[in-house]
Amino acid sequence: MVKLAVLCSGRGSDLQSIIDAIKAGELQAEISIVLTDKPNVQALTRAESADIKNVCVDRKLFATRAEFEAEILKNLGDVDLVVLAGFMRILSPEFVRKFTGRLMNIHPSLLPSFPGAHAHRDVLAYGVKVSGCTVHFVDEGTDSGPIIMQAAVEVKDDDTEETLSARVLEQEHIIYPRAIQLFVEGRLKIDGRHVVIRD
Ligand code: GAR
Repeated sequence: MVKLAVLCSGRGSDLQSIIDAIKAGELQAEISIVLTDKPNVQALTRAESADIKNVCVDRKLFATRAEFEAEILKNLGDVDLVVLAGFMRILSPEFVRKFTGRLMNIHPSLLPSFPGAHAHRDVLAYGVKVSGCTVHFVDEGTDSGPIIMQAAVEVKDDDTEETLSARVLEQEHIIYPRAIQLFVEGRLKIDGRHVVIRD
């Protein structure tokens, strides 16, 4: 069975979509650990309720990113794929290189537009009519790795960050488990910037 580590920072609704897809038999993988960088977040409760090993590696308790990441690595153990699900920390190039082709992220915009920590705010400020979400492999840049899957949603004139984010999240919860299942099936081939989905 393919082993996933899921890294989160807060609410964990993307994590929940992965848990639910596994339970429904749509995703043939197991989550070996849920790891957060903050204590007392909902992602930990969700993992606990699903009987999944969970741990907080509190960023505030580490003087440097290198020490923080060393502690994460110690906890991850032997996993096949690291899944960033609302994990709001930038990982170092050294960390990313350890998981080349085995580290995925979901971002709440149609990359390469609106990378960074405030995608919905930036989308609304810019005035685009379409937004969405992107699942991609992580490279050494921010939100810049090869794209695996995207879904688009309409941006409405009266949207707020909350309404837009709710519409995008619905799509996140569909495409993230699907993208992970493609990885599990060995169907994702990275070719430079391109991810080819094999039959
Ligand atoms: C999701 O919208 C995810 O795309 C976003 O954080 C939210 C987490 O929600 N991730 C990023 O912005 C990463 N830069 P959740 O905690 O309910 O899964």
